[in-house]
Amino acid sequence: MDRYKLIEQARLAAQHAYIPYSHYPVGAALLGANGKLYHGCNIENASFPVTICAERVALVKAVSEGVRDFVAIAVVTANAGSPCGMCRQMLYEFAPNLRVIIADVGGRVTFDDSLSKLLPLGFSPNDLDHAAP
Ligand code: THU
Repeated sequence: MDRYKLIEQARLAAQHAYIPYSHYPVGAALLGANGKLYHGCNIENASFPVTICAERVALVKAVSEGVRDFVAIAVVTANAGSPCGMCRQMLYEFAPNLRVIIADVGGRVTFDDSLSKLLPLGFSPNDLDHAAP
């Protein structure tokens, strides 16, 4: 899929952001290997830590429908903000080499590269192979 289409889908997803506290909309569009798109927006909560980021909303929507293989994610904010560490780690579980596209609402791309560059030496399921029995 054309990266600008993915960015546009993320921009549209941000319109549903529930952001009464930060007023900072985030939109994500996650492309599955099945060719389907999963949209996410940030959803805040009066109990602040309960807030969930746009990227994780998109991911849990996909995984809860049985989809675990991913090609790319676009993340759009006003200022091309970068995905937080928690989102990087959660995406890394399924797709360490996921293509991550970070853009602002005007379509300016600030990053278009592998998740493994955003999360070097990420903790993966393989790391648990050495867990004590
Ligand atoms: N946020 C995201 O949706 N994704 C990120 O990767 C970083 C932060 C949201 C959470 C909160 O609603 C707002 O941005 C400000 O932190």
